[in-house]
Amino acid sequence: MLSFHNTMRFSSRNVARALSAIHITHKNGSKQAKLSGRTLRPLSTVKKSTHASEEDNMMDTHQNTGMSTRLPGGIPDFIEKWNPALFHQVGYGLGAASMASLGILANDMLHPALPATIIGFTAIYWKVGTDDLKQTNHTLRNNFPFLCHMRYLFESIRPEIQQYLIESDADATPFSRSMRSTIYQRSKAQSDTRALGTMRDVYEEGYEWGAHSMFPADHHDVKTRVKVGNKLNGCLQPYSASIFNISAMSYGALSGPAVTALNKGAERGGFYHNTGEGGISKFHLNGGDIVWNVGTGYFACGKTVDGKRFFDEEMFKENSAKHAVKMIEIKLSQGAKPAHGGILPANKITQEISDARGLGPGPWTEDCASPPYHSAFSTPKQLCEFILKLRTLSGGKPIGFKLCIGQPKELASLFHAMIDTDIYPDFITIDGSEGGTGAAPPEFQDSMGMPMAEGLRLADNMLKGAGIRNRLKLIAAGKVYNGFSLVRTMANGADLCNAARAFMFSLGCIQALKCNANTCPTGITTQNKNLSSGLNVSNKSVRVSNFHAATVLSASEIVAAMGHTNPRHVTGEDLWKRENGIHVSTYSDMHSKYLPVMDGGELLEEGMPKVQKKMKGWWEEGKVIYDSMN
Ligand SMILES: Cc1cc2nc3c(=O)[nH]c(=O)nc-3n(C[C@H](O)[C@H](O)[C@H](O)COP(=O)(O)O)c2cc1C
Ligand code: SF4
Repeated sequence: MLSFHNTMRFSSRNVARALSAIHITHKNGSKQAKLSGRTLRPLSTVKKSTHASEEDNMMDTHQNTGMSTRLPGGIPDFIEKWNPALFHQVGYGLGAASMASLGILANDMLHPALPATIIGFTAIYWKVGTDDLKQTNHTLRNNFPFLCHMRYLFESIRPEIQQYLIESDADATPFSRSMRSTIYQRSKAQSDTRALGTMRDVYEEGYEWGAHSMFPADHHDVKTRVKVGNKLNGCLQPYSASIFNISAMSYGALSGPAVTALNKGAERGGFYHNTGEGGISKFHLNGGDIVWNVGTGYFACGKTVDGKRFFDEEMFKENSAKHAVKMIEIKLSQGAKPAHGGILPANKITQEISDARGLGPGPWTEDCASPPYHSAFSTPKQLCEFILKLRTLSGGKPIGFKLCIGQPKELASLFHAMIDTDIYPDFITIDGSEGGTGAAPPEFQDSMGMPMAEGLRLADNMLKGAGIRNRLKLIAAGKVYNGFSLVRTMANGADLCNAARAFMFSLGCIQALKCNANTCPTGITTQNKNLSSGLNVSNKSVRVSNFHAATVLSASEIVAAMGHTNPRHVTGEDLWKRENGIHVSTYSDMHSKYLPVMDGGELLEEGMPKVQKKMKGWWEEGKVIYDSMN
């Protein structure tokens, strides 16, 4: 008999294996996590680190392990060690060298050009470096005075080097130069128009485009807000969400200033900010609307008993009542590491982390676990009951869950449970396997979980076929970063979208790929206060809201150009793709070959005559899973 419980837990074996890879040693009387060769990666590159959850890995330092932090594409070690104190020491050294060169010159032992060069360089060094320390706009200049200009120098000639010698602008690593440039320009409210035409090869396989109308609409009329929370489900406090929002990234994965800047940016722009699974920190409470991401660790709504985390009703009630909390998202899984948990060792818990997670006063003697499965439910029916419980305890706020889709039949079992119990979530967030993370094993990042486009279409179609699409909203995340990707995702079935890494770029992320090493040079994914204090919150929060506004504007202009005033009216007929060298198809035609779009209720008809064979199989197997677990 197939058990949902077991399928949900199947990956716990991997986790147990991985956890056993962490040896706890005692050094100077304190517990320390030691590596045993497990590989975790930030964003896309390979690093070695402890096996820990999203936020937990942010706190690992490679200095602890004595391993080199040098990465292909990353910044060299000596640059990382640079800081204001070292800047001053080198400056004093240069000053001494200047004096010495003058002394030697006086004895006619040197050509006058040499002391002049040393003194000139020393003067420039001090002037540039102290200006860097005084300014407040650029984190890199604060953290790496003088030296950061080497980056700007190389940056300025990078396009040439890159174009002729290295790679194309379209190479995604994981976000291409061209994607990042768009985000940087929009964040800084700079002109984002381009001259001379597209740099893309429009005859290349995979090229896609939107079909504009001869009768475009006015982009001012395009609807950019969506109501989440259905009265029919018992939701009493529906939320009017923007079509574009900040995806889950916890305090811990991100620094306090980074979370604060995101939250203030969300307030400025009138969109929401998802807390990530590390609880609700003081950095999340800066005026922006928040969606509370409740992971398996039940941070800010749980307690630890015998090393395991359990849901705590009273704590949830208290925190969900916070005015800033607009919706609650139960996290089942995320695309970059589906069904994979983590652990924060007790010796890494600080007062601020404890406050965000609700772990109580220190000293903290127990490790803080985020297992791959929830202890509050283990069957589809119990998940529905948990949704109802959270809705009641929160006073009727919208409740949803987030997942990266694995087995379609399990998704079907959830929909059977909703229909049978008449308990529906207000939203489901579909995360794609292309999603980001602070740290995760490469196999999970590269080879597990369904990509966003397929997962979204599957969920949208199955909900329609089951006749329950109108009960909830679909939210999607997976490399949404500009107007076109936003519109395409909504045409694929999403009512609204989230983005994580795109907002990191708006904060100034340079894709140094050190998110899991605690050495993020831009102060975004580090708990090292020397680095994070360089992140100027007021400046970056403006960039966050600029980026949001420009992206929504671009999406509105595209929707209007297609002749619509509602992004949800864009369909597969409005989007085209080059399937191979000569063959182009609309999205609708492409999809109908593999998973025909359903109108509504086809899965509920006797014998399901209009349903494609594969979908019919998943729906029937889903029923078997659901029944076998009741
Ligand atoms: C640094 C970082 C931390 C993340 N932390 C969480 C988390 O705590 N909970 C969660 O559900 N997803 C988390 N995610 C996944 C994102 O919320 C998002 O679903 C995924 O990255 C896809 O969006 P993107 O392609 O726009 O980055 C994290 C992603 C990143 C990059
Ligand atoms: S700049 Fe920071 S946040 Fe961006 S990829 Fe590098 S380490 Fe991660």
